[in-house]
Amino acid sequence: MPKEKVAVITGASRGIGKSIALALAAKGATIVAVDMDQESTEAVVAELQATGARALAVVGNVTVAADVEHIFESATEAFGRVDILVNNAGITRDGLLMRMKDEDWDAVLNVNLKGAFLCTRSAFKVMSKQRYGRIINIASVVGQMGNAGQANYCASKAGLIGLTKSNAREMAKRSITVNAVAPGFIATAMTDALSDKVRAELTAQIPLERLGSADDIANAVVFLASESAGYITGHVLSVNGGMYM
Ligand code: NAI
Repeated sequence: MPKEKVAVITGASRGIGKSIALALAAKGATIVAVDMDQESTEAVVAELQATGARALAVVGNVTVAADVEHIFESATEAFGRVDILVNNAGITRDGLLMRMKDEDWDAVLNVNLKGAFLCTRSAFKVMSKQRYGRIINIASVVGQMGNAGQANYCASKAGLIGLTKSNAREMAKRSITVNAVAPGFIATAMTDALSDKVRAELTAQIPLERLGSADDIANAVVFLASESAGYITGHVLSVNGGMYM
């Protein structure tokens, strides 16, 4: 269990990131909650502190190198170390490839892939000195299987899986593990936007016959962040109700 470990979680102010923050805090971790909006990030930190957890809000955009440096400086200044990084911040800008705008391609690749690269690079500096670290990237089932209308998103998530495996190989000698969790369709703000018809079609493709919950993903992250997962690296853990095997 990540007792007294310090965890930086990006995109922590809502959805899956917030559930991950609450779940790691429940296991004793100190949380550095990173997101772009001050009010909602501080609200999550207040919720964490109300449970007795140590927590810090850092406002930052993971695509901006200076913000990312600030995030890790703030974490180490406040708590002295960073043991766990969860690259969870992510966006969609869906559309068919023929009509996809350059800015929609760039925005998705920047947040979902470059953001993870920048955060991992900064985390590695701290973790390599500690000779300990757990990095968990939140990918997606559609990064494994593709999805019409999401070429930018699927490319970013497939890229994240490649980044996970390369970083796992580079960082293993410092006892840093790097893994990905690939959620299926999870009930959050991102999927609330779907129509009932699309939701029913999606559910029909899922052997476990339901959308996942943010807690389903948080439970997988807690495991990969734990001491028990120390011999697992470069792995992509599917949490998708069986929709892709
Ligand atoms: P969400 O939209 O509810 O939350 C994402 C959070 O990331 C937001 O709080 C947002 O402000 C933050 N964020 C966005 N850009 C950022 C940036 N540049 N810097 C810092 N923070 C930023 O999304 P949700 O559903 O909780 O998704 C979390 C992760 O899980 C994402 O990486 C998403 O791609 C992935 N995922 C979600 C699935 C779903 O069905 N909801 C399925 C598979 C993967």
